[in-house]
Amino acid sequence: MTSLHETGVTVRAPAKINLHLGVGPVRPDGFHPLATAYQAISLFSTVTATPADDWAVTCTGQVGIDTAGVPLDDTNLALRAAKLLAREHGVDQPVALHLDKGIPVAGGLAGGSADGAAALLACSLLWDLSLPPARLLELAGELGSDVPFGLVGGSASGHGRGELVEPLEDHGRYDWVVLTFDTGMSTPAVYADFDVLHEGVEVPDPEIPPALVAALRAGDARALADAVGNDLQPASLRLRPQLAEPLRAGLDASAYAALVSGSGPTCLFLCGDPDHAASVAAALSPYGRALVCHGPVPGATVL
Ligand code: C5P
Repeated sequence: MTSLHETGVTVRAPAKINLHLGVGPVRPDGFHPLATAYQAISLFSTVTATPADDWAVTCTGQVGIDTAGVPLDDTNLALRAAKLLAREHGVDQPVALHLDKGIPVAGGLAGGSADGAAALLACSLLWDLSLPPARLLELAGELGSDVPFGLVGGSASGHGRGELVEPLEDHGRYDWVVLTFDTGMSTPAVYADFDVLHEGVEVPDPEIPPALVAALRAGDARALADAVGNDLQPASLRLRPQLAEPLRAGLDASAYAALVSGSGPTCLFLCGDPDHAASVAAALSPYGRALVCHGPVPGATVL
């Protein structure tokens, strides 16, 4: 092992939102075909990988982030990422991983996936593996549907079960209020409810609205507001009906658009500029923790 990295490598990766989440009929493997437009926003998780005698993972939360639900065993996505990379590339050097989470847990913002993406990049550098980006993306796709996007960042399309990611041309900056709640939601439970809602109904193949692609290309937040959407939102609202109230309150407070993020419960409010976002956030603060963010931001980055 080179002495270059004895002090460890730190990588940060962003939260994702789905500007549009198109969901198709459940596949035989239990996953759903997606056509989604991702955007990386300015909430980050950092992972530090340090050579160690044994595999280990520790976790802290940035201000306001409750990490009680983060597993510290072999199911932890960052640890799974490190071990997968070691196994696939013949590395015999355990690492201690430290996660510092700034992305709410189980919120529909792919916080665990960001940890997985950051751990993959950090360990590949720590171990001097010199892997082509396509190989890291392939391993990321094995770990979870949203992990490849954590590496790519920016604005991007996602197909397959979300793991097939291609950058989208985006000339805008978008100001978001991200409303988070203390209690998370289970992604599998929301997809299962989507299936119940669509029983006996023919679900068309999902697609990303061309108007959304055009809005990003033009960098036009108002046009983007007209094109956002989430096919999981009815299921999330059925499981958590009280989300209807803040969604309505955000629109009443003049947000351009309001939608559930991924499987929820986090809600997203598109605004015109940072001051607008601050005033929408103030109106939403009775309902949860309202964070002012912007996107797009880059994917996993070495610090
Ligand atoms: O891939 P990931 O581990 O993030 O998926 C978590 C769960 O979400 C899956 O086990 C599945 O129940 C559901 N899912 C799905 N279709 C997708 C992505 C996720 O049904 N495209």
